[in-house]
Amino acid sequence: MDYRIGPVLIDRETLSRRVRELGARIAEDYKGQRLTLICVLRGAAPFTTDLAKAIGPDVDVRLEFMRVSSYGSGTVSTGEVKILQDLDYPVRGEHLLIVEDIIDSGLTLSKLQDYLRAREPASLKLCALLDKSARRQVPVEIHYRGFEIPDEFVIGYGLDYDEHWRHLEAVHVAVALEGGIK
Ligand code: IMP
Ligand code: MG
Repeated sequence: MDYRIGPVLIDRETLSRRVRELGARIAEDYKGQRLTLICVLRGAAPFTTDLAKAIGPDVDVRLEFMRVSSYGSGTVSTGEVKILQDLDYPVRGEHLLIVEDIIDSGLTLSKLQDYLRAREPASLKLCALLDKSARRQVPVEIHYRGFEIPDEFVIGYGLDYDEHWRHLEAVHVAVALEGGIK
């Protein structure tokens, strides 16, 4: 292993409080409507399930899952986005909310937004747990944002380093060892 789990950046209680706040805001904004949450696999899976529960019964929530490739196995975005798993149902005329774990360069998201916009939804918004805005290469409007974080590589609560550590309850900083990350 060329890295280790570093200090906690956002603990479990803080995450869960924030997710409940976001859920309540979304519930208010989409009250009485039908909303399709588009979970961007794999990183956003834990966040999406918690968020959906936090939205509660006042919104008719549907869950969709997409998988797009952004990184290979490193930590730097290639800017190339491939759709590895597409939507199961047509979304024309539907309210869509993309749920992402983190917005870094913004490249993955802006490509995904173009792709979804072409399907003519009634609306398309974005909810991201983490915003690493210092690394943005293309502008991305985040309608529901969990936390702004510094330019550190983070793991846990869905976020991985090379598919490791998604299962951690908190968000941690990943600390590079000799010749490791970055
Ligand atoms: P972007 O295209 O650079 O915005 O990349 C977004 C994707 O990169 C996210 O969905 C994550 O999968 C991954 N990513 C970016 N930063 C981190 C990080 O600090 N930890 C883990 N994954 C990250
Ligand atoms: Mg990843």
